[in-house]
Amino acid sequence: MDYLPIFLKVRERPCLVVGAGKVAARKVALLLRAGARVTIVSPECCAEVQSLTAGADVTCVERGFQPGDISGMVLVIAATDDEAVNRQVSELAKQQGIPVNVVDNPGLCSFIMPSIIDRSPVQVAVSTGGASPVLARLLRARLESFIPSAYGRLARLVDEYRQRVKRRFPSAGQRRYFWESILQGRVAELLFAGQEDKARAALQEAIDDTSDNFDTGGEVYLVGAGPGDPDLITFRALRLMQQADVVVYDRLVSQPILDMVRRDADLIYAGKERDRHTLSQESINELLVRLAKEGKRVLRLKGGDPFIFGRGGEEIETLAQEGIPFQVVPGITAASGCASYAGIPLTHRDYAQSCIFVTGHLKDGSVDLDWERLAKPAQTIVFYMGMYSIPVISEELIAHGLPPDTPVALVQQGTTPQQRVYIETLASLPSLAQRHAVKPPTIIIVGSVVSLHSKLDWFRSGQQGQ
Ligand SMILES: C[S@@+](CC[C@H](N)C(=O)[O-])C[C@H]1O[C@@H](n2cnc3c(N)ncnc32)[C@H](O)[C@@H]1O
Repeated sequence: MDYLPIFLKVRERPCLVVGAGKVAARKVALLLRAGARVTIVSPECCAEVQSLTAGADVTCVERGFQPGDISGMVLVIAATDDEAVNRQVSELAKQQGIPVNVVDNPGLCSFIMPSIIDRSPVQVAVSTGGASPVLARLLRARLESFIPSAYGRLARLVDEYRQRVKRRFPSAGQRRYFWESILQGRVAELLFAGQEDKARAALQEAIDDTSDNFDTGGEVYLVGAGPGDPDLITFRALRLMQQADVVVYDRLVSQPILDMVRRDADLIYAGKERDRHTLSQESINELLVRLAKEGKRVLRLKGGDPFIFGRGGEEIETLAQEGIPFQVVPGITAASGCASYAGIPLTHRDYAQSCIFVTGHLKDGSVDLDWERLAKPAQTIVFYMGMYSIPVISEELIAHGLPPDTPVALVQQGTTPQQRVYIETLASLPSLAQRHAVKPPTIIIVGSVVSLHSKLDWFRSGQQGQ
């Protein structure tokens, strides 16, 4: 190792920053976050530094650097654009054994600043030893996405209960096993879901439990997988995918997303294709209950958002009735995903002030919708499951007053490399769908916003439509 990674306590201790430009401002802000008493020496201060100093524990000395400024400091940072001053600060600090950092000049530093992921009290520092700050920042961005923002709260909770757990489990091995089960189990999940009271109660319950079978209670995560592009799932969805024991998934969940599930999790396919439901909704509801009662962490993975035409509400109603803990993770719904990837803003100041999501699902051969409310000017309508009702949609919207030349888009397999976008008018919608043999999953977007596609189309899928 070229450097020794350490975390330095600077709370209420004097630290010096020489220079007061934008870079210095970032260093001052960091020192203040760590509770340091900061002195800034610089003939003039930029606006950022001035705004930081208001009300904070900062002394501003408006003049050039003098050797005496260093004495008594526990840490020094030089961030001026004057090489000679930076060098002088570095040499003086080193002579006095005070850790010194000179911004963008590793040769003059006795310590370097890492990129930080701050979930205080949990902190992760990334360093490339000064070789590539950009690489360190990229690594940091990756880590940020894997470390839930609530880790800090989790660490504080653990700290609070540490002594109690020590008394309850005298052996270090037992304690480690206990904490592993807590930190990867329901207590952590409750905390991440913002249910701190329940997390505390569950933790206390686990401490009081004399059976020593830690955290075997099953639960269900109802998770939205988005419309297809695996990059569109949420951090929380990804984390839960990697800790579930069983995954019950729908047809709309794409293979690249399933590939991100924990390798040894059991995968259960639940359907559903139109008229070919692999499992009935009731069987799915019962399956989730049964698996959770067996003590499993069950991930119910659905395309798009579980609460938008996803019957997610029904599934968790059954769980609630059975007293099974669950949480819901939203996903990007097909309308948002497909519209974005087709370059069609669903609302736009000049074209549409409202947007309606409806299902075009056929019931007994007809579509039961309030056509009058749908056929309004300056409104975008997105039809889910509308493939088989295309003739009805076109006919009814025109009959209820929408101009036959209203632009319409069909977006098939939106957000995936197979995405296709077909655009024409309301009147020609049925022949458009027929000509291209459009297949599910497809959404239909109706409204003048569709005309923006020609200008805003940006996504290059494998096969372009039109
Ligand atoms: C049962 S609904 C589920 C909707 C899902 N819960 C959501 O929020 O997107 C299925 C319909 O969503 C639409 N859909 C879902 N994913 C799609 C995609 N990638 N491209 C186009 N349409 C999609 C289709 O209209 C499909 O018939």
